[in-house]
Amino acid sequence: MPFKSYALSALVVLPAILAGCGAQPGMRQVTSNTLRARQAAPSFQKDVLPLLKNNCASCHNAGRLFAPLPMFEKDGTPRTEAISGNIDRIVTAIESGRMPPRKPGSISPDQIAMLKAWAAAGTPVD
Ligand code: HEC
Repeated sequence: MPFKSYALSALVVLPAILAGCGAQPGMRQVTSNTLRARQAAPSFQKDVLPLLKNNCASCHNAGRLFAPLPMFEKDGTPRTEAISGNIDRIVTAIESGRMPPRKPGSISPDQIAMLKAWAAAGTPVD
């Protein structure tokens, strides 16, 4: 009975996988999106930076005093520590729809999941 044995092995393997996840201390609750994003840990240079450059840098740079939290210098050089040190605020601002202003939904759920995965990985800079 091939189907039954397949179903049986799925029943045995799945809880083992789930238990494995739960066993890691401090691990945040995993959604399918963050799980997918985490399989390839997001790159600061290739994933995080382009997103912030395209959507945030025009206001959040050292030359624009009306916006708090400058994430870039005037010339576009990233302020890496300001970004990694404030990643939770950044995610919250985007997720709540406040940022970028007047463009709610312009950052996709996958992009938000990518930022969260980068945060969960400890904001590695490559
Ligand atoms: C059109 C200009 C503009 C753009 C684009 C923009 N912001 Fe902002 N941002 C502001 C201004 C102005 C404030 C201060 C007023 C406010 O908090 O609403 C602000 C505030 C913030 C804050 C502080 C909110 C808090 O209290 O924690 C964060 C974090 C933030 N922005 C992140 C972002 C991110 C991330 C992006 C890109 C996805 C972005 N912003 C894009 C203008 C902008």
